[in-house]
Amino acid sequence: MPVTENSPSAPSPLKNPDWRYIDKPALDDFRAEDWAILNRQREPYMAEEQARQALRALTESKDDATFGYRINNYLHCLQSATMAMRDGCDEETVVVALFHDLGFITCPDTHGEFAAAFLGAYISEANRWMLQRHAIFQQVHVEGYPGLDRDARERWRGHPHFEWTAEFVAKYDQNAIQPDYDTAPIEVFEPMVRRFFARPPRPVPID
Ligand SMILES: [Fe+2]
Ligand SMILES: [Fe+2]
Repeated sequence: MPVTENSPSAPSPLKNPDWRYIDKPALDDFRAEDWAILNRQREPYMAEEQARQALRALTESKDDATFGYRINNYLHCLQSATMAMRDGCDEETVVVALFHDLGFITCPDTHGEFAAAFLGAYISEANRWMLQRHAIFQQVHVEGYPGLDRDARERWRGHPHFEWTAEFVAKYDQNAIQPDYDTAPIEVFEPMVRRFFARPPRPVPID
């Protein structure tokens, strides 16, 4: 059998060399003492890695090309977060803006739900609701697109989170496509992202 990157013969390195592997082939074989070890090691691992890997997922797209917008999706995300920050939004909302389009290229039709799932345990219900529907709310800003229902958001008119979703899209999303805007660098947001993921997660309902 050819050796590929996906069939390593050695285990992945531990983040801390003093930690232990659970050297068993399946979860079926794990016992209470194994879970105790994993849980002990998981906590310090997540404290550093969750925010770092979330940021990496975004920064991986830093130099990607665009299909016609004047700035790429990465800069759109940064610009959206910058606008939210400068407008005095709370830190959670700034981080929400930073990641709101993380899946815009990889899962375009479901990227709102993707962002809602990505951040869902750390954000308010208003922000989660907004993320899930922001692309549909954006349609009201889209003139001349064939077959698009600009009023698709109207099905939610009167919902408690309707106004916030409309506001987010109008102020920090549909306009965050400007190459000459003074967009803050990722370093400004990194400490916010670390604080964001350090907060206790909440249970998220499955819709
Ligand atoms: Fe979006
Ligand atoms: Fe966006």
